[in-house]
Amino acid sequence: MTTRAGRALRMAYVVAMVAGVAFFVMSVTLLGVWPGRVLDRQVRTMSPERALGLTVSEERGRAIYGREGCAYCHTQQIRFVHADMRRFGAPTLAWETRFDYPHLWGTRRIGPDLARAGSVRTDDWHFAHLFAPRSVVTDSVMPSYAWLFDGSPDRPLQGARDLVVYLQSLGRARELAGPDGEARARERCDCAGDHTMQMAFGSALNASPARTRTSGTDVPVLPISVNERRGRQLYAANCASCHGPRGAGDGPAAASLVPAPSDLSSHEYATARIVDALWNGVAGTAMQAWRDYPPDDLAALTGVVQGFHVGQDAAVPDSLLATGERVYVANCVQCHGRDGRGDGSAAGEFTIAPTNFRTQRPSMNSSLRALREGVRGTRMASWTGRLSESEIVAVAAYVRSLYESNGGR
Ligand code: HEC
Ligand code: HEC
Ligand code: HEC
Repeated sequence: MTTRAGRALRMAYVVAMVAGVAFFVMSVTLLGVWPGRVLDRQVRTMSPERALGLTVSEERGRAIYGREGCAYCHTQQIRFVHADMRRFGAPTLAWETRFDYPHLWGTRRIGPDLARAGSVRTDDWHFAHLFAPRSVVTDSVMPSYAWLFDGSPDRPLQGARDLVVYLQSLGRARELAGPDGEARARERCDCAGDHTMQMAFGSALNASPARTRTSGTDVPVLPISVNERRGRQLYAANCASCHGPRGAGDGPAAASLVPAPSDLSSHEYATARIVDALWNGVAGTAMQAWRDYPPDDLAALTGVVQGFHVGQDAAVPDSLLATGERVYVANCVQCHGRDGRGDGSAAGEFTIAPTNFRTQRPSMNSSLRALREGVRGTRMASWTGRLSESEIVAVAAYVRSLYESNGGR
């Protein structure tokens, strides 16, 4: 008895060792090998036939992103979590970061996730923001990367260009895979019963509330009463950086943006025009959408924008308007449309839509300036030399006469 117990005790180290090794093998299998195989299979079955790699410039941008430590503050993975999906869009699938080596997923979100940043903002926004984040986003804690520029945000060095090209590539592969790619991936993943995987396909691909889109969709109905103080606070925190404290289009970020932020004080806007610009952004420009604000706040902001407009108009003789209309019909309808609604036959071809004069009226000075100098960064060219000075004055007055104010509200 004593000898047998003694022997068993002497053998205990063998048992412990076997148990230890077995536990180690089990851990490696469960935490390393098995998930690796699941991911491998996911990548194999769900990725597009030819997933897109990065261009040389994008690769350089990626290296700068790593070098500058962007990943310490920004993640590049949308998790399978409802809060993430609501804010950023469909969760990241394994194949999307297949070529990411070393990966830049990041672990902390001091700034927003960038996995689908590519189609959210324009290059000029990124340059202004990288050069001096606070000039664009008033209370940003992101550091400045001014050394990637030659002294000002409109003079990016190659490094800044590469970095922005890289940012614009984020999320591209999945977006290019398109709805048919999503459908194929869903079919192939064979995961009808897998709740988590189903989440990957359920929501919008890119849900960033800042992403601009061509107008028209689900614009909210605004409440009638507005909180003016709240409006002024929101404006100071979000809009003054570009449109300036008094709406004159002269905020700290304005100088390098093309097209420049609108001079809100020299325009009259119908309520619908402002709400549309706030809800959808202005596609092709640095004007992002503000869909994360509730209707009350959008109404308050609308009030602030309309409040910037001052000035009475002198009456314009009918003969001038008749000349203006003739010039307009001969030169402007293909873009601005016969009725001035910005829906001319060529309008669909432009990234930045021609102005709708029914919902927006520039001051006489702005109208003249746009005609004489064109609008930089848009298809509106200068008409000096093509029209006589008196024709320019006439047509500048004519487009102003098309305004319909609020047509109800
Ligand atoms: C100290 C943390 C920090 C670092 C480092 C940092 N950022 Fe940011 N970033 C932020 C914060 C906070 C915001 C949100 C406020 C803002 O938009 O400025 C932000 C916003 C952004 C946005 C806008 C995202 C959106 O759509 O709203 C981009 C793009 C961005 N950062 C890119 C970069 C790049 C590229 C780098 C590296 C060169 C970088 N960031 C480094 C904190 C950081
Ligand atoms: C990053 C700079 C930037 C910020 C911040 C910004 N805007 Fe804009 N905004 C622009 C630009 C650029 C345009 C487009 C100009 C054009 O179409 O030529 C624009 C256009 C607009 C328009 C449409 C007018 C038009 O002429 O088409 C309105 C209204 C407007 N902004 C209001 C706001 C309000 C309110 C805020 C704050 C919630 C805001 N903007 C924040 C840059 C900005
Ligand atoms: C090739 C297309 C095109 C043609 C032709 C064209 N425009 Fe434009 N126009 C635009 C675009 C695009 C804008 C800029 C919209 C913006 O900045 O958001 C614009 C802007 C303007 C503005 C400035 C509006 C504002 O609110 O500040 C005026 C005024 C204007 N156009 C008048 C005219 C007149 C008058 C003609 C004919 C003589 C004309 N345009 C011909 C495309 C065109």
